Amino acid sequence: MADPVEVSVVKAIQENRLWQRHMEIAEIGATGRGGVNRQALTPEDGHARRLVLDWSSQRGFTASIDDIGNLFIRRAGTKPTAAPVVAGSHLDTQPTGGNFDGVFGVLAALEVLEAASDANVITTRPLELVVWTNEEGARFQPTTMGSAVFTGALALKTVLATQDSTGVTVEQALAETLKIAPVNEKREFCSPMAAYLEAHIEQGPILETTKNTIGVVTGIQGLRWFQVEVNGEEAHAGTTPRQNRRDALSAAVSMITKLQALMFDEADAVRFTVGRFEVAPNSPNTVPGRVLFTVDFRHPDQDVLSHLGNQIETVCRAEAKECDVSVVETMHSPPTEFDPIVRDLVRDAAKRQVQPYMDLISGATHDAKFMADHCPSGMIFVPCEGGISHNEAENASSADLAACTRILAEVMIQLANR
Ligand code: GLV
Ligand code: MN
Ligand code: MN
Repeated sequence: MADPVEVSVVKAIQENRLWQRHMEIAEIGATGRGGVNRQALTPEDGHARRLVLDWSSQRGFTASIDDIGNLFIRRAGTKPTAAPVVAGSHLDTQPTGGNFDGVFGVLAALEVLEAASDANVITTRPLELVVWTNEEGARFQPTTMGSAVFTGALALKTVLATQDSTGVTVEQALAETLKIAPVNEKREFCSPMAAYLEAHIEQGPILETTKNTIGVVTGIQGLRWFQVEVNGEEAHAGTTPRQNRRDALSAAVSMITKLQALMFDEADAVRFTVGRFEVAPNSPNTVPGRVLFTVDFRHPDQDVLSHLGNQIETVCRAEAKECDVSVVETMHSPPTEFDPIVRDLVRDAAKRQVQPYMDLISGATHDAKFMADHCPSGMIFVPCEGGISHNEAENASSADLAACTRILAEVMIQLANR
């Protein structure tokens, strides 16, 4: 039997308010093709933060911020010193991003805080919403930067000095963003949390195909990122014979072809992507002197992640021929398992609210990954149309988003009254 306090907050979730807010945020950085370009620490990111801050202050919630720009919105509980129950996600997007990746987790958490106010429920622990800085890793690498710094997995100093492709540092971009969305109260890194939850679209096809509304996320597959730089020598395309060439592009193509063969698996469990490929000087009649490409490699099993990932540098060296190659691992994130108690709470809430649910592992990475090392953590997935994400066509149903938010509400209130 559900607790009446939880039921009252669940009932106060407003599907329409939640959907309208998605549509409002979608206008910030809108590309005109149905998607958004709101990369981390751009003015658009700043304006989206500002909107969330405005909505929050209208309800009397308070804001604090840490030194990497992670934004925390608090609804006070009866015990101010108790560690909060936190939920959230990110507002930044891919360059051709959709309207739900990240935004949903932020707005679902805000909706829970508001529903608690509308239902006049005061929890024991504070309820908090968090907006993580630079989850996407599109403008500044690596991905999940804010939660990595918050939990101490990345050093603040190194991250602040990280540059985008035009030479702007995280420190400079953060300062500009905070002029648009200023917050005075300071939040310490690693500050205690009672639990962390993240609602997110699945970004894959499983829930939709199996007709489940709720995904109880068991964990996140492991991820390794590499940056490969191939250096040859620029030369005249019309006059330089083959044996005199040190063609960085030709070497890079051989490396990628061999890596694709290495990563091929019948079961289709390995995820291997070369998502960035830069050629210099990128001129039709100059032999390329330099190529830079990235590798994103993921698998749920640590042994496979180690075994295949450790061969990447060897393959690149073997294919470098007359060029020089450097392979730098920029991220190594082992598979994560979410807290069994949080998973049970999500499952029980889905049962009580009569939502079809299933367990599944996340193919994408999320800030919940770093939070899992910090406090009991979990994620709740909702279907997205055709499993499409990191694409302007990304879509989700308003009813599903509200259903997932009601599960989030029940779990958060339960944890906040423990
Ligand atoms: C996050 O968007 C990821 O790359 O999984
Ligand atoms: Mn996301
Ligand atoms: Mn994403």
